[in-house]
Amino acid sequence: MRVAIVGYGRMGREVETIVLDRGHEVGRIIDPTLDDGGIQAAAVTPVSLEGCDVAIEFSLPDAVAGNVRAYAQAGCAAVIGTTGWSAWLEEVRGRVEAAGCGVVYGSNFSVGAQVFLRLAAKAGALVRELEEYDIAVHEMHHRGKKDSPSGTALSLAEALLASVPRKRSVETARLDRQPREDELHVSSTRGGSVPGTHTVYLDAPADTIEITHRARTRGGFALGAVRAAEWIIGRKGLFTVEQFIAELLTES
Ligand SMILES: NC(=O)c1ccc[n+]([C@@H]2O[C@H](COP(=O)([O-])OP(=O)(O)OC[C@H]3O[C@@H](n4cnc5c(N)ncnc54)[C@H](O)[C@@H]3O)[C@@H](O)[C@H]2O)c1
Repeated sequence: MRVAIVGYGRMGREVETIVLDRGHEVGRIIDPTLDDGGIQAAAVTPVSLEGCDVAIEFSLPDAVAGNVRAYAQAGCAAVIGTTGWSAWLEEVRGRVEAAGCGVVYGSNFSVGAQVFLRLAAKAGALVRELEEYDIAVHEMHHRGKKDSPSGTALSLAEALLASVPRKRSVETARLDRQPREDELHVSSTRGGSVPGTHTVYLDAPADTIEITHRARTRGGFALGAVRAAEWIIGRKGLFTVEQFIAELLTES
């Protein structure tokens, strides 16, 4: 397949490596900081997408809705890994459905992290009636990350609320008070070069169970995004990364 890499920052460069490793072709690299009149272009438009089967986007939140307009006009499939654009989700859904193209989006394309999210939700469900087990979440990312908490931490918190009814709301701000019984506290730290670490604590007076996903490099996110690109070609509609992963994992 011929891939347009949209956003050529930390993730875009990882995606380029995996695209080539898996025997695909880079059709265009699109980023406002680039334009060589050839493979590099500054803006996502039907012209810059010409000849590409799929776009893989890791850019900035406020770029997503405009870029989706171009994918729809060009009839180009897309994988959107950019986080922090949920305010535009319905607008994006409308454009994708009207155009009949295929787009898959999600806050974490790492297959390992998706396995972790399922394990965490399952662990929450196992202790949902055991009130001695309180539940909390912590995440840490490198100092360059622009959003906080991470999209993955929010997905994790939603999954835990769904599997543990005694937790009814998520608190992501710094707590300078005692948490309420029905609150799930999600804390974030930013610093250094950490590609992304998420931990769920199931903590009782007698013991603690910690489930951690620690990304070692960004390669895992990029590999998942390239696999998602292989999967989305030929499909129509807006899909979540969870829908894609469900087909990839063996669940019995
Ligand atoms: N879903 C996942 O698995 C996953 C994993 C890692 C990072 N992310 C997200 O991916 C995004 C990018 O992360 P990063 O670390 O590569 O950031 P980065 O800052 O290193 O790179 C972003 C790039 O996007 C470019 N850009 C800005 N506006 C653009 C536009 N309109 N069109 C195309 N490109 C544009 C910037 O010039 C920059 O080169 C963030 O939202 C981050 O949270 C998602």
